[in-house]
Amino acid sequence: MHTLKTFKTFLINTNTMELPFAESWKIKMVEPIRKSTRAEREQWLKDAKNNIFMLRSEQVYIDLLTDSGTGAMSDRQWAALMLGDESYSGSKSFFELKDTITRITGFEYVIPTHQGRAAENVLFSHLVKEGQVIPGNAHFDTTKGHIEARKAHAIDVTIKEAKDTQLEIPFKGNVDLEYLEQLLKDNQGNVPFMVLTVTNNTVGGQPVSMKNIRETCELCHKYGVPVNMDSARFAENAYFIKTREEGYADKSIQEIAKEMFSYADSMTMSAKKDGIVNMGGFIATNREDWYEGCKRYCIPFEGFITYGGMNGRDMAALAVGLEENTQFDMLQTRIHQVEYLAQLLDEYGIPYQRPAGGHAIFVDADKVLTHVPIEEFPAQTLTCELYLEAGIRACEIGYILADRDPVTRENRFGGLDLVRLCIPRRVYTDNHMKVIAAALKNVYDRRETITRGLAITKEAPLMRHFTVELERLGE
Ligand SMILES: Cc1ncc(COP(=O)(O)O)c(C=O)c1O
Repeated sequence: MHTLKTFKTFLINTNTMELPFAESWKIKMVEPIRKSTRAEREQWLKDAKNNIFMLRSEQVYIDLLTDSGTGAMSDRQWAALMLGDESYSGSKSFFELKDTITRITGFEYVIPTHQGRAAENVLFSHLVKEGQVIPGNAHFDTTKGHIEARKAHAIDVTIKEAKDTQLEIPFKGNVDLEYLEQLLKDNQGNVPFMVLTVTNNTVGGQPVSMKNIRETCELCHKYGVPVNMDSARFAENAYFIKTREEGYADKSIQEIAKEMFSYADSMTMSAKKDGIVNMGGFIATNREDWYEGCKRYCIPFEGFITYGGMNGRDMAALAVGLEENTQFDMLQTRIHQVEYLAQLLDEYGIPYQRPAGGHAIFVDADKVLTHVPIEEFPAQTLTCELYLEAGIRACEIGYILADRDPVTRENRFGGLDLVRLCIPRRVYTDNHMKVIAAALKNVYDRRETITRGLAITKEAPLMRHFTVELERLGE
């Protein structure tokens, strides 16, 4: 016979259901997108010389090329646009942005730039000289480009575990401290700064732990080397610290971000990611000497120091975006969607860089297109196949992006060959994730039949992936 207590429990169990996870926003405006036929896509890809950067956006059904500048602004950001102050100097919007950045990062000096690479250009113009060594946890391509264009050397010091795509560890973006120390010892006096990228985009949007951030910065400082944090996705990194690192569960994202930046000397920011604006970036630092140096380059390259390449309205929208996207719910919604796509790929057995990254899934093309020789660029081939399958535009983060060695001019085949499925913020629904996973499964199921890849017919000497032209082999 049931006691009253067990009866009550029974009632609760049958009536109470755990609520499923859902987005922390609702949709106010939509943009129609269109499907195409395979025949259309064949022609369009041929016209684009097998380089998906050369496709027109109308030729794309689901666009996963990048999460950069492709996010959906909130109603508050659109409202802020109307309040933007377009004064050439001393814009109110600049000071509002500067105050927000200082509050979130702790950095007092702020120089706006039109995007992240412009921030790198200004800072590196002040800091980088020919022959110097700049270590980093897998420099982003523009970062590497700005270093190598100045005839300096970008040396990757990411932990070697990052190259094993099937290894599941929580902070795969970390720096290999032993290797870094050796590099700092061997190059004393020749390292102007280190680049610490959070999250580590190139190895799969993988986070760097607070412990590793602190120890990396302490190590660099021991050798008199400052640290610039490449912060495009700093809020996503803070989310992973909160959810994965002991001691941070009860801290807010903004508290975690403040601590991350407290160890570094400066940050360069592509605000098009975690700032959720379509265009914008900045440099921030507490070093007055760097600020003075950057001012000299900002004015001729970007514009006066209180707008540096940004409209007043864009600075206003960025201030709101930074505030919104350093809230836990917003980040949880985003990262949950990326994890959902990862779960679907798991169901189909498709190999990707594990665990799922913050902004993207990086499919391990070498493990999918095992019959395509590396000299024929498996990741670029898979990118093209996915587009042909369903009009989904992904992005090669692999051997083409790796460019040639600046000295030997040989292709760099030493790294990972990945296809990045990059998820724009607040843009697609989970139904789109289902389409992406199904399209990829279709390609995966016929992977054995794909035996030839692509050959380069034209390439730029640096950052070739944007404009490279390729032909399909075996046709
Ligand atoms: C880690 C990282 N750093 C720098 C950049 C360059 O920023 P932008 O595209 O705004 O020039 C990017 C862009 O994707 C990035 O992911």
